[in-house]
Amino acid sequence: MKAQIAFLPGDGIGPEVAREARRILETVALENNHSFDIVEGVIGAAAMDKEGTPLPESTRQLCLHSAAVFLAAVGHPKYDHLPPATRPERGLLELRSLLGNYANLRPVSIAEGIVDASPLRRESVRGVDLLIVRELLGGIYFGKPRGIEAGSAYNTEAYETAEVERIAEMAFKLAKSRRRKVVSVDKANVLESSLFWRDVCTRVAKEHPQVSFENMYVDNCAMQLIAKPQQFDVILTTNMFGDILSDEASMLTGSLGLLPSASIGGKVGLFEPVHGSAPDIAGKGTANPIGAILSVAMLLEHGLGLHREAVKVERAVSRVLVRGVRTQDLRSRARETGRDKVRFVSTREMGELVCDLLRMPDAM
Ligand code: IPM
Ligand code: MN
Repeated sequence: MKAQIAFLPGDGIGPEVAREARRILETVALENNHSFDIVEGVIGAAAMDKEGTPLPESTRQLCLHSAAVFLAAVGHPKYDHLPPATRPERGLLELRSLLGNYANLRPVSIAEGIVDASPLRRESVRGVDLLIVRELLGGIYFGKPRGIEAGSAYNTEAYETAEVERIAEMAFKLAKSRRRKVVSVDKANVLESSLFWRDVCTRVAKEHPQVSFENMYVDNCAMQLIAKPQQFDVILTTNMFGDILSDEASMLTGSLGLLPSASIGGKVGLFEPVHGSAPDIAGKGTANPIGAILSVAMLLEHGLGLHREAVKVERAVSRVLVRGVRTQDLRSRARETGRDKVRFVSTREMGELVCDLLRMPDAM
């Protein structure tokens, strides 16, 4: 296959983890005779520094004309004083809108070999395998009016029927290739927008009788995710609740650094780790590249339709983790559980170890 892939390293630890993600893509290309034209672009604070805007026209065009987009992370503390409308993060929100990616898929599963990395007990997390399907282009992130005035500030959570229908349809479709269970999460006991969300999802559910369906309040869901995470298969939710619940769910695995995501449904898929730019550890070579590497697996699967290659990347990652190889973000737990097998490596070593496995004939 020949494909152009837009590569946006962004800010903070972004460039470090993007380098390893790129190494994986190049190895997959080489080992499987694909030709990936990886073209880098700027976004976020890096783009503000260089071009004065978080999503320059050159990056927009690059993404629109690529087969898939990889993005590592955006955000920098030096722009913390700016209002939301002009911050680096705006570049990411605009890119999601530009590409039309209304569905953000955030899978959370516990690879054998990292059950002891979770701050929860082994028994509490063993077998967790859930998928958060987060609405990505609506809700309070984009609703109008919004603003700050002297003495008050406001945002609006708004959803239209079609917006809820399409994300609900996506969740049911995905559930059919999983354990056939959708839980829709809202705050319908307080918010009109949530009551509306619940009504639409409940109606869509009736068209998919093969899939079991339940509505759940978000506060209860936050608790259930810790109490009994194995009950969840697909969690269908709004932009903001999905943002919050996915960070929470990441700790079932032990680190936000492990989680990938795919934003799909629009013109070109966007693939990014769930973690942020982590300015506190940027430039140290200690960041966990697994979230970025697994996002490359999602890019291969959903962006390019290369299922076999995607599975190989996932398998290589699990095999490295099973051997007890860890980045620093998983340090405290490893020490507490007293695993003697654990070996700590840098961002780069982690990427190289995954690549080594991809190059082994039996892995390919
Ligand atoms: C995420 C991030 C973004 C979001 C920020 C950086 C705008 O937290 O992808 O989860 O809130 O969607
Ligand atoms: Mn987030």
